[in-house]
Amino acid sequence: MLVCNVVGARPNFMKMAPVVRALQNVQLPQILVHTGQHYDTNMSQVFFDELGLPQPDIYLEIGSDTHARQTARIMAAFEEVCQQQQPDLVVVSGDVNSTLAAALVAAKLHIPVAHIEAGLRSFDRAMPEEINRVLTDHISDLLFTTEEIGNHHLANEGIEPEKVHFVGNCMVDTLLQHVHKAVEQSPWTQQGVLPGEYALLTLHRPSNVDDRGIFTALLDILGQLSQDIPILFPVHPRTQHNITEWQIQLPATFHLIEPQPYLAFLGLMAKARYVLTDSGGVQQETTMLNVPCLTLRTTTELPVTITHGTNKLVGTDPAEIEKAVLKIMSADWQLSRQPPLWDGHASQRIVQVIQQWVSGRV
Ligand code: UD1
Repeated sequence: MLVCNVVGARPNFMKMAPVVRALQNVQLPQILVHTGQHYDTNMSQVFFDELGLPQPDIYLEIGSDTHARQTARIMAAFEEVCQQQQPDLVVVSGDVNSTLAAALVAAKLHIPVAHIEAGLRSFDRAMPEEINRVLTDHISDLLFTTEEIGNHHLANEGIEPEKVHFVGNCMVDTLLQHVHKAVEQSPWTQQGVLPGEYALLTLHRPSNVDDRGIFTALLDILGQLSQDIPILFPVHPRTQHNITEWQIQLPATFHLIEPQPYLAFLGLMAKARYVLTDSGGVQQETTMLNVPCLTLRTTTELPVTITHGTNKLVGTDPAEIEKAVLKIMSADWQLSRQPPLWDGHASQRIVQVIQQWVSGRV
């Protein structure tokens, strides 16, 4: 029995790390393949170091490219890996191009696929992640959901309920394991701000940053908000590229910083007055940290972060963003309740299901 875990981009690492550890604990043989979709030290290696992920057994060095070329190159390289290693199960997580590419290769070679974070739907097919999610789910054999609505979406799409396992959230396993250490390191000191007296921003969705009009309008309103409370902005490479290309100038109250390592970012999030984001992971993490989160999108695949958490969708409308920030600043914001099974044990549940599946009981 050989399990082949596949990672590729930043959000995969914190989801896969606790699963790798849980597989080690039950001594199931495994290998780790990194596609190289993300390759900068602070987008990749730093997460291996901080999360105690073993170095990949196989590194495919795919790098950046158009969607079709990146996906195709991962597929060609991963097909060779599967032919050489003959895994019995391929485990993928989330919704990035590496997720779909690896799942598709495995399914075509009749290797069963397990999908961590299955069943999420934004119902916005303009998002590449939505395409990746839907397709990966439909070719997976074990589907691990993070919130109950995922089970409903999968049932509505005709996926057999026997394949679907509601296990909770692996990203939360990682968060709970590291949050104390992250806060102890006081990463805000290095940024010259005080706990509770700054906001934190992440922005990297193509729909927000690749359209010059939308991107500059967003930065205008956020620049104004930063006059009241400084905004720390770890800049994703995609976003940095456009800031440079379009020669965008921002006020000094807007602190542009490098993409942060896991612990520093978690510590910054934990003590932020509020967070502005278009990321999926950050919506989940702020829910766990009970920090107000404004999502700069009109849809979310993570409704539990709204029903149980601190998240609110504000889109990119300046008036909506301003209104929400005013509410937060006057301490008029919803507190979070822990979503079901976001308890730090999702990866153990996943490995239990895998063990039952190995023994033919699932
Ligand atoms: C990808 C995922 C997205 C996820 C995000 C997290 C897809 C379709 N998108 O988006 O779901 O939220 O990762 O970061 O898989 N770049 C670097 N260094 C790197 C990686 C990328 O400079 O290590 C630059 C390159 O110019 C590249 C651009 O960032 O073209 C975008 O990278 P890519 O992996 O294509 O998509 P992301 O926007 O990172």
